[in-house]
Amino acid sequence: MKKIGVLTSGGDSPGMNAALRSVVHEACNNSIDVIGFKRGFAGLIDNDYIDLNIQSVGGIIQRGGTILLTARSEHFRTTEGQKAALEVLEKHEIEHMVVIGGDGSFHGALALSDLGINVIGIPATIDNDIYGTEMSIGVDTALNTIMEVVDKIKDTASSHQRTFIVEVMGRNSGYLAMVSSVVTGAEACIVPEIPPDYNDIVNILKEGYLRGKTNSLVIVAEGASTAFQASRKLGNLGGIECRITTLGHLQRGGSPTCFDRFIATRLGMTSVEMLLNGETGKMVGLIGRKVELTDFNTVFAKKYEYQEKLFELAKVLGNI
Ligand code: F6P
Repeated sequence: MKKIGVLTSGGDSPGMNAALRSVVHEACNNSIDVIGFKRGFAGLIDNDYIDLNIQSVGGIIQRGGTILLTARSEHFRTTEGQKAALEVLEKHEIEHMVVIGGDGSFHGALALSDLGINVIGIPATIDNDIYGTEMSIGVDTALNTIMEVVDKIKDTASSHQRTFIVEVMGRNSGYLAMVSSVVTGAEACIVPEIPPDYNDIVNILKEGYLRGKTNSLVIVAEGASTAFQASRKLGNLGGIECRITTLGHLQRGGSPTCFDRFIATRLGMTSVEMLLNGETGKMVGLIGRKVELTDFNTVFAKKYEYQEKLFELAKVLGNI
């Protein structure tokens, strides 16, 4: 292995740069050249690349986003796009790739692997919806950002004895909503995995006020409902007047936490080690305290399991 290619793809997440830095360091340690393709698979098709070395990844470990830029490429989903990408890789004499991203990116990675390229994936998405890793890179930073903002909202909510609905990201995953509910003391949480019972939520909020609570908070994952729709429902069903906040992309940016930098570094390093070991078509992930490999087909087949216990925890704490 003389040369590897690396790209970041899909929604950016804090810690992607730390993973990239680690990939480059481990490659350089083994005298392997690294080419970084910009804008994910779109840049790969367009042969939009930069040579990477220790200097080019200096000072990026603390930076959010991705210096390689990212994209969601429709073109790469087509046979024609994949053929174009393969031609680019052949031109560079690259037979090994590291793909940093989420579920969609790994489908692209598997396509490359099916074309004969040796590929290892590194899970980086704030949604934490990837099977084969207990935490994806970026989740911890996003949660800390949400927690900080919600704490601020609670200051004003309690001053006015108001109900706030905060909408967080998660198209198909309620992970951010559930964990942020637990750590901010939300009264209720609405996630895509379970149909919400708005009557139940109205009762919880009303009983809370009767018991002397000064405010209430509902955290909703975007995949379940918008904050606006949820506030309309609570208003119509229980006459509850809500203020709403949609956190949007604010929760995807920012400097990665210690945890994200550390797991990104470990996963980045292991991805190169695994390529050197002849592994391909697999993802490196954090299971317990260990870095483990899971093949892409298993990652897709066993999609991140819904954490019923976590939802129950959020519910029980909200009711008290
Ligand atoms: O997959 C990560 C994510 O942040 C989701 O939580 C969100 O639904 C989506 O990306 C937003 O994508 P975009 O930035 O392309 O609008």
